[in-house]
Amino acid sequence: MNKQVNKQGSKYRFFDLQPKTTDFHTEIIRGLGSTPRFIPPKFFYDERGSQLFAGICKTEEYYPTRTELAIIRENIDDIALQLGSGCLLVEPGSGESSKVRELLDVLQPVAYLPMDISSNFLQQEAQKLAAEFPWLDVHAVCTDFTTSMTLPYTEEGKQRIAFFPGSTIGNFEPDEAETFLRDIACMVGADGGLLIGVDLVKNSEILNAAYNDATGITAAFNLNLLRRINRELGANFDLDQFTHKAFFNRQKSRIEMHLVSQVAQQVSIADCCFEFAAGETIHTENSHKYTIEDFQDMARRAGFEPVKVWTDAEELFSLQFFSVNK
Ligand SMILES: C[S@@+](CC[C@H](N)C(=O)[O-])C[C@H]1O[C@@H](n2cnc3c(N)ncnc32)[C@H](O)[C@@H]1O
Repeated sequence: MNKQVNKQGSKYRFFDLQPKTTDFHTEIIRGLGSTPRFIPPKFFYDERGSQLFAGICKTEEYYPTRTELAIIRENIDDIALQLGSGCLLVEPGSGESSKVRELLDVLQPVAYLPMDISSNFLQQEAQKLAAEFPWLDVHAVCTDFTTSMTLPYTEEGKQRIAFFPGSTIGNFEPDEAETFLRDIACMVGADGGLLIGVDLVKNSEILNAAYNDATGITAAFNLNLLRRINRELGANFDLDQFTHKAFFNRQKSRIEMHLVSQVAQQVSIADCCFEFAAGETIHTENSHKYTIEDFQDMARRAGFEPVKVWTDAEELFSLQFFSVNK
């Protein structure tokens, strides 16, 4: 654990609860050996993957980031009123911590805990944030939130609020999303709250464009997964022989992202060999889209009570606040 006190007296700490490389190896072999083949989306996020995702957020087509930011800015007074001040603010999957910057001055949390699987990126972004908000205690936690939600730092008697923006919840299958929300309810406890960004069902053109940007950053993000497996697990994926594919599956209300093998080919990962047929895919991500009502029903089943929903005028995206059911 690193401990650092910056000039103005606030604290920056880093807690490393990162999964081991062997977990990465086991999960990749299991996913590629399944029918159909898949790779869990959490593995997108090595340092380059996190930088590429930050690039996706700035593309013209990727409406979720700018829409969620606009919702926060337009409703900041009401958000402050609903959430109160002085909480312990926990952000699972914090990435660049870009949206929380809009909240910190009004919420005045006693401490901010950004949590992410992408260790170097998390540390860089959390240190930047600590320098920008010298009054704030920042406790960065590198962890896999699908395996542990344990907080290595708490403040007794302070309300805990989880901030989970970016519709990262959409990456879970609906039953897993419900379990994850239950874990959050447990983590924040009886007086706790959840402020969550949820992407909404809409027409396919907007959705398909958002995951197929013209500059090709989303394609590079998807393919970076194979580059990472080559580098960290000694595999021999030929990146020129796989292409990015993303489309809206209306029946399942989700964007699916795949990597498509362009030819019949063999790929080795250490002593394992995988045979790909031409056109065969590796399913790399889902991004589920919800109606407000369906999401609220799921959150209720997970132990939350809806308090308030904010959306943009076109109802592309929603920011929803829940309290824990007593
Ligand atoms: C879709 S991005 C959202 C980033 C940011 N919250 C936003 O709103 O733009 C998902 C973030 O969650 C992190 N992440 C994904 N799976 C994770 C896991 N299993 N455990 C911890 N962090 C994870 C990624 O590293 C990434 O920063």
